[in-house]
Amino acid sequence: MNSPDTAARVAELRRLIEDANHRYHELDAPDITDAQYDALVRELEALEAKHPELAAADSPTRRVGATPAGRFPQVTHAVPMLSLGNAFEDGEVADFVRRIRERLDRQDLVFSAEPKLDGLAISLRYEDGVFVQGATRGDGATGEDVTANLRTIAVIPQRLQGSGWPKVLEVRGEVYMGRADFERYNEHARLHGGKVLANPRNGAAGSLRQIDPKLTAQRPLSFYAYGVGLVEGGALPDSHSATLARLREWGFPVSDLAKVVHDVDGLLGYYRGIGEARDGLAFDIDGVVYKLDDYAGQREMGFVSRAPRWAIAHKFPAQEQTTVVESIEVNVGRTGAVTPWALMQPVQVGGVTVTRATLHNADHVARLDVRNGDTVIVRRAGDVIPEVVQVVVDRRPPDASPWAMPMACPVCGSEVVREEGAAVWRCSGELTCPAQLVQSVFHFASRRAMDIDGLGERYIESLAEFGYLKDVADLYALTLDDLLEMKRRADERDGSTPAALAKSGVKAGKVATKWADNLIEAIDRSRDTTLARFLYALGIEHVGESTAKALAQWFGDLELIRRLPWPLFKRVPDIGGEVARAIGHFLDQPGNQQVIDRLLERGVRIGDAQAPNPKLGEGLDLATLLVDLEIPKVTPVRAAQLGSAFADAQALLDAPAHNLVTAGLPHETANALVAWLEDEANAGLLLRSAEALVELRGRLPARGAASAGPLEGKTVVLTGTLVSMGRDEAKDRLEALGAKAAGSVSKKTSFVVAGTEAGSKLAKAEELGIEVWDETRLLAFLEQHA
Ligand code: IVH
Repeated sequence: MNSPDTAARVAELRRLIEDANHRYHELDAPDITDAQYDALVRELEALEAKHPELAAADSPTRRVGATPAGRFPQVTHAVPMLSLGNAFEDGEVADFVRRIRERLDRQDLVFSAEPKLDGLAISLRYEDGVFVQGATRGDGATGEDVTANLRTIAVIPQRLQGSGWPKVLEVRGEVYMGRADFERYNEHARLHGGKVLANPRNGAAGSLRQIDPKLTAQRPLSFYAYGVGLVEGGALPDSHSATLARLREWGFPVSDLAKVVHDVDGLLGYYRGIGEARDGLAFDIDGVVYKLDDYAGQREMGFVSRAPRWAIAHKFPAQEQTTVVESIEVNVGRTGAVTPWALMQPVQVGGVTVTRATLHNADHVARLDVRNGDTVIVRRAGDVIPEVVQVVVDRRPPDASPWAMPMACPVCGSEVVREEGAAVWRCSGELTCPAQLVQSVFHFASRRAMDIDGLGERYIESLAEFGYLKDVADLYALTLDDLLEMKRRADERDGSTPAALAKSGVKAGKVATKWADNLIEAIDRSRDTTLARFLYALGIEHVGESTAKALAQWFGDLELIRRLPWPLFKRVPDIGGEVARAIGHFLDQPGNQQVIDRLLERGVRIGDAQAPNPKLGEGLDLATLLVDLEIPKVTPVRAAQLGSAFADAQALLDAPAHNLVTAGLPHETANALVAWLEDEANAGLLLRSAEALVELRGRLPARGAASAGPLEGKTVVLTGTLVSMGRDEAKDRLEALGAKAAGSVSKKTSFVVAGTEAGSKLAKAEELGIEVWDETRLLAFLEQHA
C-alpha cells in the first residue's frame, strides 16, 4: 500500500472507530460486533506502528472510549481507568509473559487469572468506609457521576464491612446483567411491547445511564469488583490477589473463578478451563484477564498509551457475529405456537457454527424489521438459542420487502390465527396437526408427565409418520407387533436394515424385540398415574407442572375438573384469567374431551382422586363468581351488592334491569351487566358456572374433617430400602397425612410401599392382591401433598 492510500485508510479507520465508539458508549446501540471493532482497532494500531508519521495524539487508539455524553456531572478519575491490550492467540500470551520476564529480569512470576466480564467498568469511591460516589469510565480520565443509579444495585455495599479499610478507597469493577436476568427482562419486554435489550452488556450500560434512578432500579444489575484505584490514608496488601481477598472481606462480590497461576501453561490452562465452563456461566464473559500479581512488579512494568504492560485480556470467540438472512421460516410448536426463525449463512458464534436463529415472535420481527437478505447481528450465549438481535440496515438489499406471517400452517395447512391481545400466533389444527402431535406425545410421555421410559422423539415421529399414532390415546392401543413393524419400516426408510446391524455383530432380532417389550411395559406402567401428572401431560397451554399440581390439590378429581367452566379455575390461588381461560378453551374442544375419554377407556387410572380442598369453600358464592367472570364494570364492591341482593344466578338473570339499580348498582354498571347478560353465551356461562359452584359446594368435605389427611383411615406397610429417604422418615410423612403404619401385611392393609430388595411382605401383598407403591409413586404422592 502506498502512502496516500495508507493515510486514507488510517483516516477511514479512525472515523469508523469513532463512530462505533459513539454508538457503543453514548447511544448504547452498536451496529458492529465487538469482534469487528477489535479488528478495526488492530488494523489501525498496526498501520500506526508501521507509519509513525501518521500517528496522531487524538487517534482513537490513544483513548480508551468515548468522551462522556454530558448528561451527568463529570468526575475526574484520580487514577485513570485504563483499558487492556488483547491477545487472541496462544503465542500472544507467551509474548506477554516473555516481555514481563525480560523487563523484570525474573523467571518466577505469579499471575492472577480472572474472567473478563462483559459489562461496564465503574469506579466506586468510599470515604471512611461509606460509599460516596460512583462513576463510569468515560474516556478513562473523566467519567460520569452515576452515584444515584449505582445505589440501586443491591450487591454494591453502601458501607464497608469489617475493618482496616483505607480512609479513601476507590474500588474498580464491572457492572453487568446476568444472563437469566437479561432473558427474563427481554421476555417481559417482548410480551409487553417494551424496549428489548440487544445484549446484557448494552442492557447494563443503558440501565446505568438512565436519568431516573427508579428506572435503573427496575433493571436487574449485578457487580463484580476486580481491582482498586485511588487508595489514601491506609494500605492494601502488596498483591492483586490478596487485595481481591480483602475486597471480599469488606463486602464486595469478587469472582470466585479468579485463580493464581505461574506460567504460560498455567494461563492457557485457565483459559481453556474457563472456555469450557463459559456456556454454563450465569453471565457473559468475552475472555479472561491475566494480571501480574505483585504491585511492585506492576509499577515497574508501567503502561503503554492506554493499557498496562502488566495485564492483558485473552479473548474468546465472539458471542455476536454478523451474517446474512437467507430466509425467514416458521416453526409450529407443541401447543401450536407458530414462531418465526431465520435461516442464515453459516457463521461461527462463540465457537459454534450457527445457521438458525430465533426471531421469537411476529412482533419481534416487526420491531427489528428483519427481511430476507438482510445482514443481521446474531448472538449466542450460554444454552440460550441463538437469536437475531439487530439488523444492519445500511446493508439491506434494495428489493427486500417486510416479512409477514404466513396465513396457513406450514405443517398441516390449517389457518394460522392470532389470539386476541397476544403476541403469539397459533395453528388452529390443534390435535390434528402433525407438528403438534409429535410434540404433544413427546410431552405426554416425558418423565414428569406420564413418564413413559424409552419413548424418544424419533420413535414418536416414526409412529406418527406410519400412522400408528393419531393422538396420545393411541399409545395405549399399541401392540408389540405395531412397534416391531414400525421399526422395520423406519429402518427401511433410513437404510439401516437388520442385515446391516447383523453385520456389525448385533443380534438384530433379539435387540429389536427387547426394546419393544420394554416400551410396551413402560406404556403399561404409565397407566397408573396421579391427577397432577395427567393434567400436566395433556399439554394445556399455560398449565405447567405447578399449575397442574395446584389444580389437582384444589379440585381433587378429573371428572369434576373436566366439566368445570373456566371462571371456577380462578378459585385456585395463582391461577388468573389468562390461565383459567386457556384451560377452559382446551376443555371446550370436543376433540380434546374425546381424547381424555379414550385415555380412560384404554386403562389410564388416576390413583389419587380426593375431595376438593376445604379452603375452596371460601370463594364459592355468587359475588365471587361475578368477579371471576370478568364482567365489565362489575367490581368486587358491585359484585358483593349483587351477591346479597340475589339468591342465585337464575334470580339475577330473571331480574328486570331496574331491580339491579334497586340493589344499589349505579346505572352505568347495571347497563353494562344487562348488556353482558344479553349475550346468550355469557348467560349460559353464568348459569353453568353457578351450577358447578353448587356442585362443588356439595363435594366439599364436612366441617371438622377439614384437618383430616388424605390417607385418613388407611393402613400402610413399608418394606425394602428406599433410596431417597430412610424408612422412618417415610413412615413419619405418611402418618402426617393420616395413615396408620403397620408392621405386617394383612387383608386390612390398604397399600404396601416397597423399596428395593423388598422380600416376603411384598410377596404377601401380591398374594393378597394389595396395592403396591414403588418409590416413585410414594414420592409423587408426598410431593403432591407437601
Ligand atoms: S482490569 C488496568 N479485570 O475489561 C486494568 N478488567 O478491556 C483495567 N473487565 O475496562 C481492567 N473484567 O471493563 C479488568 N477481571 C477484569 C475485568 C475487566 C472485565 C473489563 C473492564 C475494563 C475492560 C478492559
